[in-house]
Amino acid sequence: MSWWKDLRGKIRLNEPLKKHTTFKVGGRAKFFIEPRDIEGLKSAFNLLKRHKVPFLIIGAGSNILASDKGLDHAVICLNAPCFKRLFFNGDYLQAGSAAMLKQVVLQAQRHGLSGSEFLGGIPGTIGGALVMNAGIPEARIADLIKDVTVLDGQGKIKILNKKNIEFGYRRSGLSKYIILHARLKLFKKNKQQIKDKTDRYLNYRRLTQDLSLPSAGCAFKNPRGRSAGRLIDLCGLKGTRIGGASISLRHANFILNFKNASAKDILRLMGLIKKRVKAKFNITLEPEIKIWQ
Ligand code: EPU
Repeated sequence: MSWWKDLRGKIRLNEPLKKHTTFKVGGRAKFFIEPRDIEGLKSAFNLLKRHKVPFLIIGAGSNILASDKGLDHAVICLNAPCFKRLFFNGDYLQAGSAAMLKQVVLQAQRHGLSGSEFLGGIPGTIGGALVMNAGIPEARIADLIKDVTVLDGQGKIKILNKKNIEFGYRRSGLSKYIILHARLKLFKKNKQQIKDKTDRYLNYRRLTQDLSLPSAGCAFKNPRGRSAGRLIDLCGLKGTRIGGASISLRHANFILNFKNASAKDILRLMGLIKKRVKAKFNITLEPEIKIWQ
């Protein structure tokens, strides 16, 4: 008898991960689970634990490079409507972990709430952004957080106050939990001013980044006080290709899947970048992209 027969939600076997990542790259996940609701998530969690099946969580798949060989793991995708909900209460916004950042910014703007504008151009979900502490050089999502509700390692729902969450540059202590939703503290402002600010961020991204081909955003973290993109650019690597992957001509920290790239092509390109930046600047670049293998 299959262990998943009691699951509250959908399960797909041998699901291609390239369908679920913005890179459009990745082999098959043995189990791809979409719980119907929080109870469904809890039951999936307990079943996976009981049957000793390791699992990973996927949001918008915008920061993941999944191996061509696929994964023996289960992948849990929280894309049911209950995980995407947004609730407004005064200056607070409660956002489900699967809510897209773009939607969060748009709805906050409609409610005349400012603070989240810088998140508008980041192609991810609230959950993914929290785990990564996503942001731009001058702001990050941790700045907005009041508390985060999670499922802990025992399958219990817990509310974590911001002061009990460790946030660093592009990392957080939330990676050991399954994020359910977060409360963001925003502030009232004129709607037109909020829109103008959001548009400024979006226009800057459109002008400086390559959004026309599949990618996972910036491939490397910025080393302290430096821009990884600038360092890669100074190595003369823009336009370099390996297989179906290339370094963007517009922003050197973007790796593009221009023609059926494999994860191996992208990893080889990342290896070349690391080697060249190390040789020229004696700086070791760290991947921002999560590598699943
Ligand atoms: N630069 C170059 N050549 C390049 C790229 C950048 O000379 O090929 C220069 C720019 O001219 C600028 C400086 O480097 O003077 C910084 O570039 P940019 O403003 O594009 O910022 P970044 O540090 O490269 C960061 C985030 C982006 C975010 C932008 C928006 C990281 C790793 N990257 O990029 O986030 O969209 O700021 O301001 O923190 C992501 O995390 O996936 C991502 C794309």
